[in-house]
Amino acid sequence: MSDVRYEKDQDQIVTLTFDSQNQSANTMNAGFRRDFHASIQRLVTEKSSIKGVILASAKQTFFAGGDLNELNAIGPDDADQVFRSNLEGKSDLRILETLGLPVVAAINGAALGGGWELALTCHARFALDDAKLRVGLPEVTLGLLPGAGGVVRSVRLLGLEQALPLLLEGKALNAQAALKMGLLHGLAKDHSELLTLAKKWILDHPESKQVFDQEGYKVPGGTPKQPRLGEILPIAPAMLLEKTKGCFPAPSAILSCAVESLNVDFDTATRIEARYFTQLATGQVAKNMISTFWFQLNAIKGGESRPKDISKQKFSRIGVLGAGMMGAGIAYAAAKAGITVYLKDLTIEAAEKGKSYSAKILDDRLKKGQISEADRNSLLERIIPVNQYEALASCELVIEAVFEDRNVKKEVTESTLGVLGSDAIMASNTSTLPITSLAKASSRPENFIGLHFFSPVDKMQLVEIIVGEKTSKQTLARGFDFVRQIDKIPIVVNDSRGFYTSRVFGCFTNEGIAMLGEGQDPITIERAAVQSGMPVGPLAVSDEVSLNLFQLVRKATEADYAKAGKTAPQHPASAVVDRMVNEFGRKGKAAGAGFYEYPKEGKKFVWPELKNHYHGPALAFQDMKDRLLFIQAIETVRILEENVLMTVADANIGSIFGFGFAPWSGGTLQFINSYGVRAFTVRAKELADLYGERFNPPKLLIEKSEKNEKF
Ligand code: NAI
Repeated sequence: MSDVRYEKDQDQIVTLTFDSQNQSANTMNAGFRRDFHASIQRLVTEKSSIKGVILASAKQTFFAGGDLNELNAIGPDDADQVFRSNLEGKSDLRILETLGLPVVAAINGAALGGGWELALTCHARFALDDAKLRVGLPEVTLGLLPGAGGVVRSVRLLGLEQALPLLLEGKALNAQAALKMGLLHGLAKDHSELLTLAKKWILDHPESKQVFDQEGYKVPGGTPKQPRLGEILPIAPAMLLEKTKGCFPAPSAILSCAVESLNVDFDTATRIEARYFTQLATGQVAKNMISTFWFQLNAIKGGESRPKDISKQKFSRIGVLGAGMMGAGIAYAAAKAGITVYLKDLTIEAAEKGKSYSAKILDDRLKKGQISEADRNSLLERIIPVNQYEALASCELVIEAVFEDRNVKKEVTESTLGVLGSDAIMASNTSTLPITSLAKASSRPENFIGLHFFSPVDKMQLVEIIVGEKTSKQTLARGFDFVRQIDKIPIVVNDSRGFYTSRVFGCFTNEGIAMLGEGQDPITIERAAVQSGMPVGPLAVSDEVSLNLFQLVRKATEADYAKAGKTAPQHPASAVVDRMVNEFGRKGKAAGAGFYEYPKEGKKFVWPELKNHYHGPALAFQDMKDRLLFIQAIETVRILEENVLMTVADANIGSIFGFGFAPWSGGTLQFINSYGVRAFTVRAKELADLYGERFNPPKLLIEKSEKNEKF
């Protein structure tokens, strides 16, 4: 069997049908490259008896793209081989494109990455008019650039101004949008019409050429050598740097490749693209992003952390207790997935207010044409505001999101269990209180679990599932099924103070605050974080959370330690927080004053007096950056060692989707892998000597380092 079927019909049109063996989707793996090459050779030989060529797929999708298993396995030593094989593959595409025969793509499903690059090689492209069909070049999201001619052809066809946003954002287009941009030549209602359109185009264009190979072709918007683009382009790298902070090499490579490729002939452009591709594909950032955003994310979505032997549950009715910020968001997410939600607060008015949060989101989406009025209304109908527990009787799951107060949580748990069926599960959205202790309020602790959502719930994809001491496997499986049903990403952790995400995030904010306490310049601290790839600086985000909340959480922790006859560990950040709140009366953003000033008009800025209270000799900038990332990675290893985290995938995905840990690194544990486990351990010891014991490498890290083994 071949990965590419070659079939000639009575009209002398050859259809090359992609059908990667033993895979559900077509990819550009070795088998495809071999069989595609053979098909191109045959086309060249039989050219005189052929009227045209159609590219088609035997799979549900047209073509998935590059083989990520292969790409993930290559490193800097393979650069020469990668460069050559990239050029070889592209030479087949160029031969097809310049055969002198019309070449048409019949796109029956998603054509992404390499699949869309194959389609761009064609002189015309037709697609099924299917709302779910997507075309585009998402390579940048995995740290790569479209290396099979995608950059070179996109900029020639569309011009730089239209092509660059697509290439730099990796945005997939639906069929209608692609048609509007002229990237598709027509839409078909079914498979048979798709082939008819493709054949008709071939018969109508016997002497076809790619548009940009035609005499006198002008690239839309001109080339970089022409004055108009020549004036705009010099600022483009700076604008890009503002977005990437220098952490992501792919967007810069794409920009350079796009611009350079327009200044030269097609073949030279192809080589330029191959060089940039090789640089990215053999580099570390692409490895980090492919392993985390592709392999680990898929493993998580596929249920790696879900108990296996338990049948799936679909939820149709849930209850949400507390219609505040979180409860309102959870209600929206569940209703969006078709689930009926009883949203309970102390009064009907409060519950109604929670529902109005959904109405606001939906009205915005309606205005933007993203949903229909009927869909808006039916989603809202699924959220039923209530103020009595009896309304929850038929729910399969109840999630409490009431105040972060043990007694309030205890009371609502007891009242809910009084009406809930014995099969139903109860979840808490607590951000700090151990689940095992909250489960004590339940007569069925095996049915109790933590479902920790992130704010704002409608935007944040992660849910941290917390398994209490008595939580059963069934309850875990059902909690997991619920999170997947509402299309969020579940990570599973065992119970512990701060679970995983809050604990590591706390290390980040504490480290930044501690540096301030040592007299570092606050603006430099914020810059060190952002230039390391964190979305916001530790001082800004601490203000958002509010400094008095830090104090409350610390007090609760100390009380729990005291109960167990122990002393809670002390952090140098605490003294700064106490001074900010108690001495300066600056509690954070909500209070209108924290590390930053929040003027009524205009942008926030760092409180100028901070410098008078905290000043000292400046640290090396690299040390500041390292402290902020290392402390998070080291704490993650401790959490893994304590078996609070159970998988590497949960650690990496949880860190990026939960608290925005530098995405270029592939997550907290992949950061260690990419730094080199041994080198990381040595550096951690250095940081411990300089800045405190908290940087000391945990036992698990030392073991890995001795074995030179990755996480
Ligand atoms: P919130 O203060 O906005 O909302 C709490 C709601 O619970 C209020 O509407 C209140 O009227 C209601 N409530 C109080 N007692 C009730 C009762 N007996 N029955 C029904 N409703 C009752 O609080 P928020 O921010 O939504 O937090 C809720 C929970 O989610 C807390 O446990 C918090 O720690 C947790 N959480 C908060 C996050 C955040 O970013 N705010 C993130 C993740 C978790």
